[in-house]
This record gives sequence, C-alpha cells and structure tokens, in this order.
Amino acid sequence: MTKKVLVVGGGGRENALGYGINASASVDRIYFVPGNGGTAMLSKGSNIELEQDNISSFCLENKIDLVVIGPDAPVVAGLADKLRARNITVFGPSKVAAQLEGSKAFATEFMQAKNIPLPLSRIVKSTKTALNTIESLGGYANIVIKADGLAGGKGVFLPDNEAEAKHAVSDIFAGKVDGVGDKLVIQQRYHGPEVSVFVLSDGENYRIIPIASQDHKRILAGDKGPMTGGMGVYAPLPKWMLSTDQWGKITSIASKTIKGMRDQGNPYQGVLYMGLMLAEELDGDPIVIEYNARFGDPETEVIIPLLLKNGVDVYDMLMTTANGLLAKYDLPGSISGAAITICLASAGYPGSPQINKVIHGLDKSYKNVILFHGSTKKVDDSVVSASGRVIFVTGFGPSLKAASSAANAAIGKDGVHFDGMQYRKDIGHRAFRK
Ligand code: GLY
Repeated sequence: MTKKVLVVGGGGRENALGYGINASASVDRIYFVPGNGGTAMLSKGSNIELEQDNISSFCLENKIDLVVIGPDAPVVAGLADKLRARNITVFGPSKVAAQLEGSKAFATEFMQAKNIPLPLSRIVKSTKTALNTIESLGGYANIVIKADGLAGGKGVFLPDNEAEAKHAVSDIFAGKVDGVGDKLVIQQRYHGPEVSVFVLSDGENYRIIPIASQDHKRILAGDKGPMTGGMGVYAPLPKWMLSTDQWGKITSIASKTIKGMRDQGNPYQGVLYMGLMLAEELDGDPIVIEYNARFGDPETEVIIPLLLKNGVDVYDMLMTTANGLLAKYDLPGSISGAAITICLASAGYPGSPQINKVIHGLDKSYKNVILFHGSTKKVDDSVVSASGRVIFVTGFGPSLKAASSAANAAIGKDGVHFDGMQYRKDIGHRAFRK
C-alpha cells in the first residue's frame, strides 16, 4: 500500500474511477485535479488546484506512480505526451492518437482506410459542398452533421428540417460549434440501439472490457428533447439485445482499430470508447458512430462498480495498461450482476442550469447504491450543485430490474434531492421491453 495516483478531471467519471482506485490495496493516496465534492470524500482522496502545465512537476515532486486522464480536452491537448516526455506513467492516449475523438475527419479517414464499418461519410470544407452533399445523401432527414473538433457534446446535429440543417452548417463554418469551423463531416443517418464498448490498449495489445452499456442522451423520458452529456446508463445489455455474433463483430472492430493505429505509427494507449450502433439497416450489424479517447460519462459509473464486484483491481488494470503489460493481463471472461446509473440534473439543463442548490440526502446510506458526484462543490457545511449534471445514482443488483429499483429508491424527498432537480424515470427502458 504505497502507490500514489493523480486523476485529472472532476466529474462523475472521475469520481467513479477514483472510487475504483480507492478500493485497491496497493494505493494509499489519490490526488484529483480538480476533483469534486465526491472525490474529496474518498478515504484516500484529496482535491488540488493545479494548472495543466504544472501537473508534471507536481508528479515528479510527489513521486506519483500513475496519472489517469479522465476528460477529452486534456488528452486532445496532448497532456499525456507532456507527462510521458518526463517519464511519468500515464493512462491516456497521445495527442495524435486522441485525434480519433478530437477530429471527426481524422476518425472518418482512418475508418475508411482500415475497412472499419461506419456510416457512409463525407468530409466537407465549404457551405456549398455541405448543402450539395446533404442533397445527394437524400436530404436533411437522412443525414447527421458533425463538427470536426471537440464541441463539449454539442457538435452532432440530427436536423428535423432543412432550416435546421442549414443552421448547423452555417454555425459550424462560423466557428460557433468547435471553435475552428474549417471542416465538418456529413454522414448517412442510421437507426438502431446505440451501445458503448470500452477497449483497454497499451499500444500493442488490447483487452475489451466485457461490459456493454447503453447511455440515454436525451433529456426527457422516451428519448425526447435536446441532447445532453448523458442522463443515465445501464449495463450489461441483455443477450436478446446484443448477441454473441454481434459481440464478435464488435471485437473485430476493436482489433482493427487498435492494430490500425499501431500500423499507422500512432499506437493507442489508454481506453478507447467505441460508440456503436446496431444498425437496423444492416440487420443489426454494429457500425462505429463515434470514437472517444476516454472513458464515458456516465458509463464509467456502471462499469467501475461492476468490475469491482467481479474482483477486478481497478488500479492494477489501469497501471498494467499504462505500463504496456496487457499481454500478460486478463479481465474476467464474463461479468455477473447488473448496474443502472440515473443522473440527477439541474433545472434548466442542458440549456442554462440553475446552480448553487443545496443537495439533500447525501449523508444517508442506501441499499445497493453508490452516489457519484458530477458537478458539486462544498459551501460551508453543505454540498451544492455547480453545473448541469449534479449527482449520479448507481444502483446494482443481480438483475437490471433490481438495480433499477435500488437506484430509484434512493431518489426523491426521502433520498437524494435538490431544488428543481430533473431526472429520467425510464433509464433502461429498452432492456425492459421484454
Ligand atoms: N456517454 C457519453 C460520453 O461520455 O460522451
């Protein structure tokens, strides 16, 4: 019990990663930069304020054994390269490899070159070409428009009419979406359930985390209303939703991706998030909707508890990946149990969230529930909301139904609540259809 870890980030994902690392007997200290109200409560955790440029000096001075980079922005900005250049062990991809998330054009060209299934896609660099491409792909109802760069979850448009399509194109080229606006990607629109799958890669070898999960990206029940960062997630998907054959095809996508990056001279180190669709138009075959260069949020809030419950040492898993030793590492072949996370969001989210609301019920314990903080802060003796996604309530149990009951029982006036709180009561609805 001597290892020190530094986790970059301060959302529900980092709280969940920290929870997993905190459980490892090898670890005695976890620094979060900047962390949140939940990470500060972990028995081995402390939050610190550090400029990104000062992280490497802090790590060297404090003999940090492992840095885990949570969010997209620092990986895409090249934090992992800066740390590796000073011989600091880091879990997170290089700036070039993170282009799989940081540039939709890079990811599109990569998948096309490596024969990885993706929607029919065109990279365009002018408004005129964009409008012609939309027309040639069958009009606004048949396409998806993606800003090229990171856009804080606001870079994907599924227009409902022609005006919305034109508006999206003009906003992207005006630099209003990803801050650059020199190109965008237009894809054919497919339909079907989305699945999140996570692949650990040390650049050479990879291991798929054997837990397929499903996020709920719209704010309202029934998958209605505006897109959000994710309002809830469940895992695993039942067998009738994701067959062994489909999982085999997902394995092949993971293999082609990791091998393809290695062969290009851009080995991928860290976790690759494959956002897939089981496309109805392809009889349920998986296609890549997006890659992300990080763990998902809220997916991490179900994955880490399930890994822990199945005997995985999370520190060991991350460290083995970062050290390039995955060839000698195995995850469990299958996972038992189920988990559901429900996001408690501020009134006004995803537009203008109302913040600084006191969160009640955090000090109680709830059966088969873990509370992860998203955006919270401590003010005097209270914990208050600090942004849109505030608390993630993870329920677990032997089945999805049990997990859902546990999570829902912890929410409300006798459980966790705050003024104006909104949440979806139908997380997992697709899995409950049968
Ligand atoms: N689950 C959505 C995301 O992490 O981007």
